[in-house]
Amino acid sequence: MATIKVRKLKSFPAEISVPGDKSISHRAAMFAGMADGTTIVEGFLPSEDCLCTVKAMEAMGAVVEPLEELEGVGLVKMAITGHGPKLKAPAGPIDCGNSGTTIRLLSGILAGQDFTAEMGGDASLSKRPMKRVADPLVLMGAKVEGQGEKICAPLHITGGQLQPITYTLPMASAQVKSAVLLAGMFAPGKTTVIEPVVTRNHTERIMSHFGVKWLRDGNAISVYGGQTPKAKDLVVPGDISSAAFWMVAAAASPGQQITLKNVGLNPTRTGVITVLLRMGAHINSSETDSEGEPRGNVIIKGGDLNGTVIGGLEIPNVIDELPILAVAGALARGNTLIKDARELRVKETDRIAAVAENLRRMGVTVIEYEDGMEIIGGAKLHGATITTYHDHRIAMAFAIAGMFAEGETTIEGSECINTSYPGFEHDLNLFLRGDNGAAPIPVLTRVPRPVAGRLREG
Ligand code: S3P
Repeated sequence: MATIKVRKLKSFPAEISVPGDKSISHRAAMFAGMADGTTIVEGFLPSEDCLCTVKAMEAMGAVVEPLEELEGVGLVKMAITGHGPKLKAPAGPIDCGNSGTTIRLLSGILAGQDFTAEMGGDASLSKRPMKRVADPLVLMGAKVEGQGEKICAPLHITGGQLQPITYTLPMASAQVKSAVLLAGMFAPGKTTVIEPVVTRNHTERIMSHFGVKWLRDGNAISVYGGQTPKAKDLVVPGDISSAAFWMVAAAASPGQQITLKNVGLNPTRTGVITVLLRMGAHINSSETDSEGEPRGNVIIKGGDLNGTVIGGLEIPNVIDELPILAVAGALARGNTLIKDARELRVKETDRIAAVAENLRRMGVTVIEYEDGMEIIGGAKLHGATITTYHDHRIAMAFAIAGMFAEGETTIEGSECINTSYPGFEHDLNLFLRGDNGAAPIPVLTRVPRPVAGRLREG
């Protein structure tokens, strides 16, 4: 088991470029893999989650040529030649690792295929509810078999002659919305998903990028079946969910300033900036490019934070940032209430329980609710041993908390960070070492091994 030891932060790097956006990287691999030609994907996030998606698309006929690798991070640029929307049956089960996005979005794609495929994953993924994707896909005509009442992985999906449906999502979930829209690409006519609250719209944007026609009417999103994505090169912006860790570190450090470069600024994801501004943070973001997915630099100046209430319609927009926003709440004056966030209980781990427990270990008072928590801000944090429950965002959120604590904080099981942020420890060390001048990560343009071989080793 890997561990990270964190002590009080010593210095601030002037800037950090976070790796590619996880949600967009998954979708880039899926759409490029179903497209009619070759797409060069740049800025790809080579995290374990996204590599599961690449490997799955390869197993179903996409051809992946590695083009550029970053040392300590992984494959960031590749050429993906699609197999077309009708994929090849994989030779064996598809391993989705820890990745909810892989299993749920691929479920939509598999629903439209002419074969049966099995998808499995690690212990955490195998406990997460897949009924939420099974229900609409079965209504469309696919056969979806899983374990128990929650239809957990391993899943067996047999594609069928799909029928278009109009489906109202029972929960605000971009993953479920995307699964239905992806299946809708294989159904004749118009498939419509109605979302109760606006969720991240990367699937809609990437459909436009690949020339797949869709419409939005209020909270109803529709796609027409029978379309083939057209290959078109794509540059993935940095992940705002990864940038969020450094945003909080900077926002809570009076006198400090940091620039986060090339961060994705899709308005369905920038809730973390809105919340931090409400807490009194000084943040400026400038959009440098908005083709496909908006992106730009974010400058954060440290100051004193105040508690806030996070809930209602903004929850889907900050769903992945709630663990680090809870840490911001602990560092703030006054109390922070997180509510309407029951979905946190079915993420990589029960994030309400994991955040509450670890904050308490560091000396913070937390009141836990079924749908959130109240954090009593302003306590002096002390170092502690953190249990991550194999959840990358718990590990990183508490590495940041450790920077503000007296004594040493030990993050046990820190290898899970590779799920979404390879290179996190390198970036963390820029704050901890105090040398401020760590060399940038070098780019290796010659990739030593083909991606398939490299992935098989893992
Ligand atoms: C994601 C959607 C969110 C998010 C996850 C990635 C996506 O999940 O938590 O990390 O890429 O669509 P839900 O849509 O289930 O809330």
